[in-house]
Amino acid sequence: MIKIFDTTLRDGEQSPGCSMNLEEKLQIARQLDKMGVDIIEAGFACSSKGDFESVSKVAEVVENATVASLSRATKKDIDIAWDAVKHAKHPMIHTFIATSDIHLEYKLKITREECKNMAIEAIKHAKSYCDQVEFSCEDATRTDIDFLIEMVEAAIEAGATNVNIPDTVGYTEPFEYYKMIKALKDNVKGIDDITLAVHCHNDLGMATANSLAGVMAGANQIECTINGIGERAGNTAMEEVVMALETRYDVYKDKTNIKTTEIARASSLVQTITGVKVQPHKAIVGANAFAHESGIHQHGMLANQQTYEIMTPESVGFTKTNLVLGKHSGKHALRDKIEELGYTISDEELNIIFDKFKNLADEKKEIFDEDIEALMIGEMAKVEGGYKLLDYQTTTSEGKDSKTIIKVSKDDEETEVVGSGRGPIDAAFDSLGKLFGGSITLEDFKINSVTKGRDALGETKIIISKDGSKYSGKGLSNDIIKSSIDAYINAVNHMEYFSERRKEII
Ligand code: KIV
Ligand code: ZN
Repeated sequence: MIKIFDTTLRDGEQSPGCSMNLEEKLQIARQLDKMGVDIIEAGFACSSKGDFESVSKVAEVVENATVASLSRATKKDIDIAWDAVKHAKHPMIHTFIATSDIHLEYKLKITREECKNMAIEAIKHAKSYCDQVEFSCEDATRTDIDFLIEMVEAAIEAGATNVNIPDTVGYTEPFEYYKMIKALKDNVKGIDDITLAVHCHNDLGMATANSLAGVMAGANQIECTINGIGERAGNTAMEEVVMALETRYDVYKDKTNIKTTEIARASSLVQTITGVKVQPHKAIVGANAFAHESGIHQHGMLANQQTYEIMTPESVGFTKTNLVLGKHSGKHALRDKIEELGYTISDEELNIIFDKFKNLADEKKEIFDEDIEALMIGEMAKVEGGYKLLDYQTTTSEGKDSKTIIKVSKDDEETEVVGSGRGPIDAAFDSLGKLFGGSITLEDFKINSVTKGRDALGETKIIISKDGSKYSGKGLSNDIIKSSIDAYINAVNHMEYFSERRKEII
């Protein structure tokens, strides 16, 4: 069995614009647990108070999977990682140090010997807390192979149960990575007694191919993220490696524990929460992944599905029905629908969502799964105690600047500002810029329609930056000016919340 180590909440979150709040991370962690992930890397506990808090909470709610926190190879990091994961049913500390000469010389400024000693100390210290310890050789694919063999052997001797060989910069090629993993399997003492992991980045578009090459050479754990989100060009996409192993069992002769019918749900959850949509032709989970456009293909499909389909949409959880709740649906039906969509909801949250659902049902003829999801996500993006939009008014006409007046409140204090610009949204952002100070930059602004039709909800995602850090915000309304203002205010609320929490613990 090939273990799946999911790092959507850690490496995935390092992807620009993918930062998530606590409630959003918990929803994703529950879905990962439900779909059979073996190890969930919940974050990098020592990087900020916010990360510490989310790793601890994920550790509390996950029922089956092992929960890991990343930590550098220092005592202090490991202590904090342990503090965060210790309540998990199956805790793991994941410690790492770079092993390539370029990292040793320029980043860490230490010798190979010092690097090995630091790794041994770190693993032993982590072992004093917890049985499951993973050790990663950062930039392994640019590490001298003899030194890598020495490092992996030392890690196993020190007690690592899982050893990871990351292609940190997405540099390796499938054949080369195969050779590296095979060299470790052939030369490292004790390698068959531990779990050997592959962790690939997608800079050259090779992450899936490299991970599978590693498996062919004997690796038995794949590190990946949902939809392949991650630093730069991303990480190995979980759905791709899982379905490759399923579909080509004849080649790999091994599978994972993942319930493949949960893949579509997990992908949609991550897209909705992060606002980062996959491209239509994305393997396995893109909107066109199972669409057959050409007449020849359609004809073949009608005669026998297998002519052009190597796996079915149902096998990854795409269903044809996307029923529709209506005006007369009750709370019970709404709860069932929300749970079927994979979310966990408390009675108090259900009351809030139910009111929103009723308002929406008054305005919109049909309510689809996507609408319900959008309501959930809007609720999860909220930040307690932040700014609230009280009112806005806008005037706009052809050939003249628009004017938008915005009134907000915070801690019972109300403020009103007026701004102008080319169109009502530009004018609204001008007002908000004045309200929250000029040093905020609008980095990205997207409006998507959640479903079809002129009454569809408009979902706005905004990324702002201040002092080099980025923050995202979401807004939802069938009035796109309101959803844009809400998204901006939500981003500012996140900025205040995260900058408080981002203060380093160490
Ligand atoms: O890509 C990488 O090297 C990592 C390690 C920290 C495991 O993410
Ligand atoms: Zn990585």
